[in-house]
Amino acid sequence: MAFSEVAPFAKTGGLADVGGALPLALGNLGCQVRIVMPFYNRFVEELAEADPVVENVPVVFGSQVIDTDIYRGQLNDSIEVYFIRRDEFFDRTYLYGTPKGDYFDNFQRFTYFCKAALSVCSAVQFQPDIVHCHDWQSGLIPAYLKHLVAAEDLLAGTASMFTIHNIAYQGQFAANLFPQTGLPDSFFSVDGMEFWGGINFMKAAIVCADVITTVSPRYSEEIQTKEYGHKLEGVLQMHQRKLHGIINGANYEEWNPENDPYIAANYSRENLEGKHMCKLDLLRTVKLPERLMNRPLLGVVSRLADQKGLNLLAAVMDKFVAYDLGLVILGVGEDKYHTLLTALAERYPEKVAVRLEFDERLAHKIEAGADMFLMPSQYEPCGLNQMYSLRYGTVPIVRATGGLYDTITPFNSTKGKGVGFRFTDYKPESFWETAKTALDLFSQTETWRQIMKNGMATDFSWLSSAEQYLKLYEKTVAEKAAESRQQAADSTQSATEGGIGKQKAKDRRKRGKA
Ligand code: ADP
Ligand code: GLC
Repeated sequence: MAFSEVAPFAKTGGLADVGGALPLALGNLGCQVRIVMPFYNRFVEELAEADPVVENVPVVFGSQVIDTDIYRGQLNDSIEVYFIRRDEFFDRTYLYGTPKGDYFDNFQRFTYFCKAALSVCSAVQFQPDIVHCHDWQSGLIPAYLKHLVAAEDLLAGTASMFTIHNIAYQGQFAANLFPQTGLPDSFFSVDGMEFWGGINFMKAAIVCADVITTVSPRYSEEIQTKEYGHKLEGVLQMHQRKLHGIINGANYEEWNPENDPYIAANYSRENLEGKHMCKLDLLRTVKLPERLMNRPLLGVVSRLADQKGLNLLAAVMDKFVAYDLGLVILGVGEDKYHTLLTALAERYPEKVAVRLEFDERLAHKIEAGADMFLMPSQYEPCGLNQMYSLRYGTVPIVRATGGLYDTITPFNSTKGKGVGFRFTDYKPESFWETAKTALDLFSQTETWRQIMKNGMATDFSWLSSAEQYLKLYEKTVAEKAAESRQQAADSTQSATEGGIGKQKAKDRRKRGKA
């Protein structure tokens, strides 16, 4: 697996949660998984082994050869993580960019990563059946496997899977950088990685991967539409046959109120008492008045990016505050949202607390201490926080999109079923109307407890998602093997029979398919 972030080594969001959990679940199913990711000095140095496992591995990069040292870490006893160390690329304060924008050399950083990731296999003599790549940062790998692997190479015949975690981030760069990818000229075309006159890593992956997945069934449909496809909807429609939606899991080893070490008191569905302590502890931690113990307390933990619906939240803030409640927001991201949220906290110091930092512990305290969790996302490929919230009895209020749609069944008061609240239109009125329904129900203690307990009983553990991935790996690997056999047969045939034989073989194949 190639990832640009894996928890606990480096994390900006849910991608790292997947990187840290899916391999474990696959390992439990008997897969032999190895991970490759960049050596971000600031985050990885303490967790990796002190000495490299292989030194000076040559990586062809444009017209140069730039060596990498490969370091090693462990995700658990059996799963190894290989880190690509090249300090001029990865020794940075952030992973992808500062709050002001992306790093200027992300093209070089992640092209290098993709190239080097494949060199790791021969350097450590690991021959994978399939390379599973995630998001644009590893998007060139399927293209390299398809176009640059020679027949005698260790990776000849290796299949590729590409998972789209977020289609808004595609890795788009200027066309003049294309030669540095080392891909054949013909790949700079409408069927290749050319995209509106530039180049696009995600498109390269979509076109070349043997199979594509995304992180919820709903999102797999959404991204084929103009509203959600970020201009790749046409390409995805074309490759629809190889696109599948598999919902992420929640890692309950990390996110479980029964044994969470970060929270003030542990609790369970059977005994909710500790949640009260967690609320008090959260109010004290973020310095909100304790009188809010009697009012609803809402939580947000989020990357501060356009997708997360923060403008919608700002638009309904007056109404929220007038309802008399508490709101705790934890997030880092774009500057404009830092400014917006700081202003809100200054305006309502008695009700709104904002922490602009990355703080794992506080994220857990919010999940446990809040009564409700807000995710008014404009789009949400999967979303993990709503699943964590369910387990903590913190009722999610979400927009009905992507994985939020797939995981949050709305509460139905007649049947007593459902785990949260969701609205459809991306409009402040819709958000407020739904939030108000939830807030009004909060004072009906018995009903509210029922909603909490319904949520706490849901199970989104990784096992069933991992089983779906495994099935797809097996199918893809089998198809790839059949394709390689066919190619070998075709080339033997054409060697013996010449051009006519080749045509005959093609015809036979066509008839076979029909
Ligand atoms: P996304 O991947 O789009 O950011 P997800 O809901 O899939 O959204 O996952 C977000 C993950 O990142 C969760 O584990 C969440 O707790 C964590 N997270 C986001 N922002 C912060 C923060 N400021 N501090 C701590 N954890 C955070
Ligand atoms: C992305 C998405 C998020 C998803 C995560 C893990 O960051 O924004 O919805 O849960 O990837 O797949």
